[in-house]
Parts: sequence; C-alpha cells; structure tokens
Amino acid sequence: MADPHLMVVDDAARLARAGADVVADVVHADGHVTIAPATGDTPVGMYADLAERHARGDLDTGGVSIVQLDEYLGLEPGDRRALYGWMDRTVLRPLSIDAGRVSRLPTDGDLDAACAAFDRDLGARGGIDLAILGLGTNGHLGFNEPPSDAASATRTVDLTRDTIEANARYWGSEGDVPTRAVTLGLRTLLDARRILLLVAGASKHAIVRRALEGPVGEDVPASFVREARGSVTVVVDHAAWEGE
Ligand code: F6R
Repeated sequence: MADPHLMVVDDAARLARAGADVVADVVHADGHVTIAPATGDTPVGMYADLAERHARGDLDTGGVSIVQLDEYLGLEPGDRRALYGWMDRTVLRPLSIDAGRVSRLPTDGDLDAACAAFDRDLGARGGIDLAILGLGTNGHLGFNEPPSDAASATRTVDLTRDTIEANARYWGSEGDVPTRAVTLGLRTLLDARRILLLVAGASKHAIVRRALEGPVGEDVPASFVREARGSVTVVVDHAAWEGE
C-alpha cells in the first residue's frame, strides 16, 4: 500500500490523455487483463482517446476482459438507462470487446446469492487488474454509497438523494433515475492490482479534497483508495483540484 499518485492536469483533454496512458500501460504490460470501467461522464473522453489508439493499431484489446462496475436495478430489457448500454457505447464497441468477454452484474433473481456467486467467481479468476473509477459528489465509488465500509461485498444498494440528483443529468430528470442499483463492493475494488480514479470539474472540488486529504472512513467511501492494496493513480483536473 502506498500513497496515491496524484496528477493534476489542466483540462479535459489532458485528463483523457493521462488516463488513457495508464490504461494503455496496463494493457501493454500484460495482454490478458481484467478491467472494471466506470460509466458516467468523466471517463468518456479517455475512452474516446483509447478508441483512437485502438483504431490506429496502437492498442490491442484482444486479451482484455471486462467486469461490470455497477448497474441500475428495475429496468426492462432494452431500457435506454441501462449502464451496460452506456458501457457498450463508450467502451465495448469502440474497443472491439465483444459481449462474451464481459462479466455482467446480476440484475434479477435471488440477487443476494447471485452477488455472492459473482464475487466468488471473480476471485477465482484472479480479481481485477485495473479498476477505472469516477467520483460521486457524495464520495461514492461505483455505487458504494456512503456509508460503505472497506470490506463491503458486491451487493444491491439504495441510491442516495445526492446520487439521484447527480444522475438526473444523464436521463432528463430526477424522476427518471432508478432508485436501486447493484455495485461491485469496495473490497473487490480495493483489491484491484491498480486503480485509476478520474475526477473533473469544480463540483467535485470539496469531495476530492475530503477523499484524499480528510479522514479515511465509510462516510467518504473514496477515501479508502488511500488504503488500497495495489497502486492508485488519481488524475484530477485543475477545476476539481483548485475549485475554480
Ligand atoms: C458509474 C459510476 C459512478 C460514477 C460517478 C461519477 O459507473 O460508477 O461512481 O463514476 O458517479 O460520475 P460522473 O463521471 O458522471 O461525474
């Protein structure tokens, strides 16, 4: 365990490039890697940068497996709000990763049993090589809402008011945001061999400072990256770091 490597960059383009360099390094170092990629707005530019590298022939994704980080619950098949669809548009298709190489989180049936089985299977396959994470304004990682402890397992969660408000921008209004979700647990994320946390925009200023400089604890789940098992890189844009 070491302190996170913090990179403060000027703008969105540099955040995308710096993040893509980390991902490319991991993929190049060992072609067979398991990646858990966040959806949300922050990593979209980085995924586009990676897609350009892939299209140029500079990033071979043939050995990349994907583990879904989080998903809303209660959606019908084909619902526009499915985070799997978001991941498909921004990560899987642009990087030529077919659905057969994706471990999807369970969304129906006996979810407690299915989540436990998911963690067991993932552990048996060696866990996650790279977790690509964004930061919620409430300090969540994935949908590990506060309070979440560092040992939390993959599970169903009720989304907090903060997350529902923040996610309204994706889907139109707060009423369009599902209220329940399933998320990889902090235990699995903090066990990843590498974590890349991307943070952008002045609205994340207070929480990124709390996560990296305040007390470590379950009220700010992202603070646990400072106790992660593997190496942690945090790429923050100037607006988020300085709040201006
Ligand atoms: C999404 C996810 C969330 C987001 C976070 C930040 O799969 O896991 O934790 O990363 O809410 O979202 P944006 O980047 O839209 O600000």
